[in-house]
Amino acid sequence: GISQQAGGIPAPAPAVAAQPAGKLTIIYASQTGNAKGVAEALKAQASANGVAVDLFNAADYKIKQLKKETHVLIVASTNGEGEAPDDAIEFHKQLKAGKAGKLDGLNYGVLGLGDSSYEFFCQTGKDFDEYLSKAGATPLLGRLDCDVDYDAAAESWSQSVVALVKDALQLEAANDVAPTVPLTQGAASLYNKKHPFAAELVTNQKITGRDSDKDIRHFEISLEGSDLNYQPGDALGIWFSNDENLVDALLALVELAPDSPVKIDNESLSIREALINHYELTQGYAGFVQAYAELSGADRLQQLLADKAALREYCANHQILDIVREQPASLTAEQLQGALRRLTPRLYSIASSQAEVEEEVHLTVGVVRFEQDGEARAGGASSFLSDRLEEGGQVRVFVEHNDNFRLPASDETPVIMVGPGTGIAPFRAFMQERDARDAAGQNWLFFGNPHFTQDFLYQTEWQRYVKSGLLSKISLAFSRDQQEKVYVQHKLREQGAEVYAWLEQGAHFYVCGDANRMAKDVHEALIELVAEHGNKSREQAEEYVDALRSAKRYQRDVY
Ligand code: 2AM
Repeated sequence: GISQQAGGIPAPAPAVAAQPAGKLTIIYASQTGNAKGVAEALKAQASANGVAVDLFNAADYKIKQLKKETHVLIVASTNGEGEAPDDAIEFHKQLKAGKAGKLDGLNYGVLGLGDSSYEFFCQTGKDFDEYLSKAGATPLLGRLDCDVDYDAAAESWSQSVVALVKDALQLEAANDVAPTVPLTQGAASLYNKKHPFAAELVTNQKITGRDSDKDIRHFEISLEGSDLNYQPGDALGIWFSNDENLVDALLALVELAPDSPVKIDNESLSIREALINHYELTQGYAGFVQAYAELSGADRLQQLLADKAALREYCANHQILDIVREQPASLTAEQLQGALRRLTPRLYSIASSQAEVEEEVHLTVGVVRFEQDGEARAGGASSFLSDRLEEGGQVRVFVEHNDNFRLPASDETPVIMVGPGTGIAPFRAFMQERDARDAAGQNWLFFGNPHFTQDFLYQTEWQRYVKSGLLSKISLAFSRDQQEKVYVQHKLREQGAEVYAWLEQGAHFYVCGDANRMAKDVHEALIELVAEHGNKSREQAEEYVDALRSAKRYQRDVY
């Protein structure tokens, strides 16, 4: 062919560029958006200090690029049992395998987000720290492992690391005083996690039958006047207050006067008020067990601390009051405050689409109820919504966006939804949205719960959608309606040929609900059905499923 360039005339040499100023790269590995939010705040803070910053989702970052960087910060949350978030699995895998090569020119920092009640606390952050250091990179400062109430720690780490990077890059700050950047998820509305909207609870309806073992509620909340918007797949954050009876029982047990004055964030209030609104009392956690073991000298707590698995199990059904009951000790207000962690909001997958409900938001919430020593115990946020908040009362809310759980871009694309129990929530939102858009794509729902007569959540709505043709197929697994347990993964296997055919036609596959067992079993069933009906080896089937995930056609919202 004909060369574009005139023969013989050399292309002009590029002008010698000025030595580019140093640059900071921030990479986030985020599942629900917390790590992304921290990374965005970090970026804003660095920019405000005159540092040039590039921000990447780990999914979009080319591993080979690492060699060319001088300053990298990674903000990573940990998924499930120590796994990287879905979007970061590939990046994590490659870094682990040494695909980044030698990194002796790299300075780095890692901020991990996690939950200390899990054995593999902040594991993904720990992994990145280890892999980078193994590749020869130099830490700018120590890794920070954040617990669920990460705001204050993350903010102060961010400040330190930005100062270090700024020094290292020898940049002159444009201004002496950097504006403080709040650590919040960017949203168009005025309201966010730190500044929630006081919304009205419009409806509180129990949607499991009177003979059900479960108390699952349908809540409708008004967002009128907030400008808050959400998309199917997003979650609603709920701030709540603790049960006054629980607080009074705890105060009596540690022999503290309810009106003892304390300070929180420079505000004075009574310990009773502080416990009602600002501290986590309805979950056990390792930090409290540790602190209280020291304060009380309780042997049983000391022993638990030595066994992570036992500790986690214990924390799952022992609230703060129950832990103190192991060996009651009188405490000062400061001792109690120091042992407790700050209240964090709960996130619930949204069960509605604004295309259908406009300025409302709906939730499907399983109320956590159990007994401890013959006394009734309940989950903090779920019992707040169901028992302590009256219809017409106010609840502080914010929207947590989740770009990792989205309907396909095209309305033609088929979707398969697996959502047993309260995992049904986002699929109600999906179907409302697709209904409103007259989306032509096929929809297939897998739902499971103990009993058909008691636990078929939103039964009439699904029947209406089947009738109208919006729902092409519905596969139900009522686990306890027969001798043998039947679960959604059994239904998936049973329908394996057709599920595989849908995947081959480009279907997206969604899973929402229990992370511990269900999501794992469904994952396994998916691999098996792909192997069987796609005539693939185990390895090929795993690759097929990995590729689905990388293409964002396999998305999970599990808890
Ligand atoms: P079970 O409680 O009868 O065992 C929602 O909680 C539904 O999920 C229930 O029907 C529950 O059944 C079921 N379930 C329990 N373990 C499961 C698992 N490993 N995989 C899928 N579903 C499960």
